[in-house]
Amino acid sequence: MKILVVFGTRPEAIKCFPVIEELRRRPGVEVVACTTAQHRHILDQVMELVGLVPDIDLHLMREKPTLTDITTDVLHRVGEVLAEVRPDRVLVQGDTTTAMATAMAAFYHGVPVGHIEAGLRTDTILSPWPEEANRRIVSVITDMHFAPTRAARDNLLRENIDPASVYLTGNTVIDALHSVRARLAAAKTSSLPDNAKLRDLLDQGRKLILMTAHRRENWGEGIDAICRAARQLADRGDVVIALPVHPNPRVSVPVRAALGDHPAICLLEPLGYAEFVSMLGRCEIVLTDSGGVQEEAPALGKPVLVLRDTTERPEGVEAGCARLIGLDARRIVEEATRLLDDPEAYGAMSHVANPYGDGTAARQIADAILSNARGQRARAVGA
Ligand code: UD1
Ligand code: UDP
Repeated sequence: MKILVVFGTRPEAIKCFPVIEELRRRPGVEVVACTTAQHRHILDQVMELVGLVPDIDLHLMREKPTLTDITTDVLHRVGEVLAEVRPDRVLVQGDTTTAMATAMAAFYHGVPVGHIEAGLRTDTILSPWPEEANRRIVSVITDMHFAPTRAARDNLLRENIDPASVYLTGNTVIDALHSVRARLAAAKTSSLPDNAKLRDLLDQGRKLILMTAHRRENWGEGIDAICRAARQLADRGDVVIALPVHPNPRVSVPVRAALGDHPAICLLEPLGYAEFVSMLGRCEIVLTDSGGVQEEAPALGKPVLVLRDTTERPEGVEAGCARLIGLDARRIVEEATRLLDDPEAYGAMSHVANPYGDGTAARQIADAILSNARGQRARAVGA
């Protein structure tokens, strides 16, 4: 059985590599790993760390692409790959434009699609934008939906998707996190970033706040509010804020202009995954609009303040390890201050079981794909 796995961005690489590794261990499976390279160097950071060498690299990243540019590039080039590789199945992950356009290309070529991290939903197609539409489009095309949580599975069932095609597997991000933490433990290193300012501020005994921001719907006003809140928090004098800056110029330019000069804010280059996981382990609290970080922080017992108005990951909020706090600078400061100053509030958010999986998602996904293929062969013989 030949499986084409297509991924393009940093989080797709993080969440796909455990599945690629698992499928490659299975007899009779040929995996073709194809990256669109919608991202380039932050994708390469992940691939290098985990030793993932793509069989096909489409080099599609552009400096300032429109969504139409990315969609048409992927549709066209993955279409060519499909014609050449002729896989039995395509796997995509999540809700990026790479995932959506690959699923469409596979549909046009008559190749079945499996969707890793299926069924996440908000109640508005405009948030996150364009990801909410992307994942709904993928769901329509997919014949194997790998739902990370019960809530995600229930979303799919509510959309009248055949229950026999939905598999509750947990999120592969937890597999990835376990794998990287095992590497760190084996190397006996914490792998904190090599940054003198950060080291000095931490040596002063300051509490570490880890921040990330990149969502398209936060560009402009949202990013400005996040930066105002960061400055106010950093002015407390007892914290250091580390912010690995997303390389998208719509994020990096305003963030560097607003925060570059603050003595207690460390603007870092995007961190390698091992370094980022080390920072997650070391920090006090996390402020983020990232999807993946919302899933990883609770697994390490770190309270997450979600810098968005909606989340497709309600499990963390319901479990009590995440709070959806929006983009009002005053509210962001208040919520962070409460966690920093009130041990009871902190304890209530940090001692919660991670709701996103047990680290066996990749194995369950591989089992499901192989047993589905056996079922299809048996039906074909029976016919
Ligand atoms: C993309 C995904 C988003 C995902 C995010 C993860 C879409 C539409 N967006 O957003 O769902 O949450 O990735 O990070 O699919 N760049 C570099 N170097 C890199 C990577 C990016 O310079 O290594 C710059 C380039 O200018 C590139 C831009 O950042 O064009 C990234 O743009 P794009 O892929 O459109 O969207 P993201 O905002 O990264
Ligand atoms: N991450 C990383 N380095 C960083 C910031 C994030 O390795 O400097 C990892 C993080 O651990 C998570 C993933 O990247 O697994 C999240 O990516 P991002 O926030 O870009 O995308 P999203 O998850 O929102 O789609």
